[in-house]
Amino acid sequence: MTDVLTISDLQVSVADTPILKGVDIEIRPGEIHALMGPNGSGKSTLAYALAGHPLYEITGGQVMIDGEDLLEMDANQRARRGVFLAFQYPVTIPGVKVADFLRHAVSNIRNPGRKEGESLIPMREFRKELRSQMDQLGLDAEFARRYLNDGFSGGEKKRMEILQLAMLKPRFALLDETDSGLDSDAVRVVSEGLGELTGPEMGVLIITHHERLLEFNRPDYAHVMLAGRIVETGDADLAQELHANGYAAIRQRHPEAAAEEQDQEAQQVASTT
Ligand SMILES: Nc1ncnc2c1ncn2[C@@H]1O[C@H](COP(=O)(O)OP(=O)(O)OP(=O)(O)O)[C@@H](O)[C@H]1O
Ligand SMILES: [Mg+2]
Repeated sequence: MTDVLTISDLQVSVADTPILKGVDIEIRPGEIHALMGPNGSGKSTLAYALAGHPLYEITGGQVMIDGEDLLEMDANQRARRGVFLAFQYPVTIPGVKVADFLRHAVSNIRNPGRKEGESLIPMREFRKELRSQMDQLGLDAEFARRYLNDGFSGGEKKRMEILQLAMLKPRFALLDETDSGLDSDAVRVVSEGLGELTGPEMGVLIITHHERLLEFNRPDYAHVMLAGRIVETGDADLAQELHANGYAAIRQRHPEAAAEEQDQEAQQVASTT
């Protein structure tokens, strides 16, 4: 099995509370998947679990890439396999400049045997590539000399995300756009940037509520999550229906999941009062 990222029956708990209760998604390069669902349904939990975040305990199921266990890999190995997680580098790294960060990341991916401290890709080659990608994104040269994410606006963070995608050219990209409070500039950056970067080489899973993003990047598959399960998978029309009508119809079609959602909310209220 090559060129496929397979999430099967994934179960994830946070602080011993089950959040994901068996999630299945299969992504191939060239496919755009949208993951939608009401607040608290578990979308970001899926993203954190795939990133190997220590708070998110995998209690069942598996995630395989090209037939190998993704969950056993460290961040570097995942990156070398061509998996990109948008919040994988969300942190501010004082003292590390955008260009240096990208040169290291690109060198790691293109030269898999490379050890820390070993040769990076040649500066001239790298500069040329970086320049051309930055021009395309409308970033001026100064941006590459700034410290990573330090004082970046929402729009600049998104440009950084898209710049990373453009430089790293992953096979699988997972973008969690829900909680970032994107303004319209940032939404445009992501929409247009993704629109340019997606193609037969890259598979994408976008977690989003933004209609604009999905208009620009029509999903081949739209998955709807409710109470930690994917209750429906459709195409762009399903995404459109959710934008137009919200989740009421979904809850009606899946009363058991809707009941679980209510239980979950009641428990949360109980535990915080
Ligand atoms: N680190 C955490 N600590 C405690 N509870 C968590 C944590 N992460 C997730 N949860 C709980 O798991 C459930 C799913 O949360 P998650 O953030 O995955 O939802 P979401 O679908 O991404 O929602 P949104 O659309 O608001 O971004 C919620 O009940 C949430 O409170
Ligand atoms: Mg979220």
